[in-house]
Amino acid sequence: MAMWVSLLPPPRLLLPLLVLLLPVVAAVHGGYGHSNLTVGFYRHSCPDAEAIVREVVAEAVEDDRTVTAPLLRLHFHDCFVRGCDASVLLNSTKNNTAEKDAKPNHTLDAFDVIDTIKEKLEKKCPRTVSCADILAIAARDAVSLATKVVTKGEWRKDGNLYEVETGRRDGRESSAKEAAVHLPDSFDGILKLIARFKSKGLGLKDLAVLSGAHALGNSHCPSMEKRLRNFTAQYDMDPTLDTAYAATLKQQCTKPEDNETELAMVPGSSTTFDATYYRLVTEKKGLFHSDEALLSNGATRMLVYSYMRSERRFFSDFGVSMLNMGRVDVLTGRDGEIRRRCAVVN
Ligand code: HEM
Repeated sequence: MAMWVSLLPPPRLLLPLLVLLLPVVAAVHGGYGHSNLTVGFYRHSCPDAEAIVREVVAEAVEDDRTVTAPLLRLHFHDCFVRGCDASVLLNSTKNNTAEKDAKPNHTLDAFDVIDTIKEKLEKKCPRTVSCADILAIAARDAVSLATKVVTKGEWRKDGNLYEVETGRRDGRESSAKEAAVHLPDSFDGILKLIARFKSKGLGLKDLAVLSGAHALGNSHCPSMEKRLRNFTAQYDMDPTLDTAYAATLKQQCTKPEDNETELAMVPGSSTTFDATYYRLVTEKKGLFHSDEALLSNGATRMLVYSYMRSERRFFSDFGVSMLNMGRVDVLTGRDGEIRRRCAVVN
């Protein structure tokens, strides 16, 4: 104890040192701002809101287990463009091309599930529950239903991977151009990914743990084909991709523009949310260049290995970072509106 005390800087230097270290800690952990969101925002105004979302998501999953992935992705694509304000759900109009029609959003799916939820909620509690909150709750429910320890009742008693915050309101604008600028690209390197997350107030830890969402779902050839042929002037193939895996992928993706063939993010288990993604990344079998980029920064690399070794740590950090992401530039209070239909402003 005495030795520890003697290692500490003198008290007059402690405060300036803490001030200097704060941005470093914040960069790794993210979560700069805090929001006015709360757990159980609809407790009084629409007590069944979360139960209704859960019921519709559960029915959709029962019908088709692959629906969990697009529901999770929708919330991410919403939050990264104009904040979590359901701008991703708005349709284009005569004078405006909306986010939905931006290239990175062409493979978004599960809009029908969100519409069904909204219809039911409008019947039960008209103009009360925002589409932005529906996206957040549906994402939480989707990932919970895809997680075995949760469905077996070994995680939390309420059957959720984490508690979701609510109280968001819906935006009135949506722009395809903004989506193209703000959404991360599958060919991004680590510096670009870090910068993109930082611009949303999210840190390296959020980047490493939220990338674990790629435990679920599928991709299409255009998102990775360049890794297989004519990668750069120097490399024909992406050197961060395993050569045997590349050979298999080459057989699946014969044409770069093929948007039909589905490539499982985690072959054999792309409907189960677990930490297998991190093992694949360490084996150079992550589908995207951006997945493998996590190995090229000391902090994210350490997190990849740590999540590979401890699924429990992955699950609990994932919940924390989903809350961080769900707070990005939200509209609350009197801002925005509560849309009656999620695809159009009131
Ligand atoms: C770190 C930067 C990220 C990049 C570059 C990225 C990129 C992509 C791309 C290119 C696809 C496949 C699109 C296609 O070809 O159909 C995809 C799918 C997916 N992404 Fe990400 N993503 C990132 C982060 C995230 C985050 C933070 C989440 C959620 C929290 C997420 C959830 C998903 C899911 C679940 C799928 C599968 C969708 C489906 O099967 O329909 N991604 N991502």
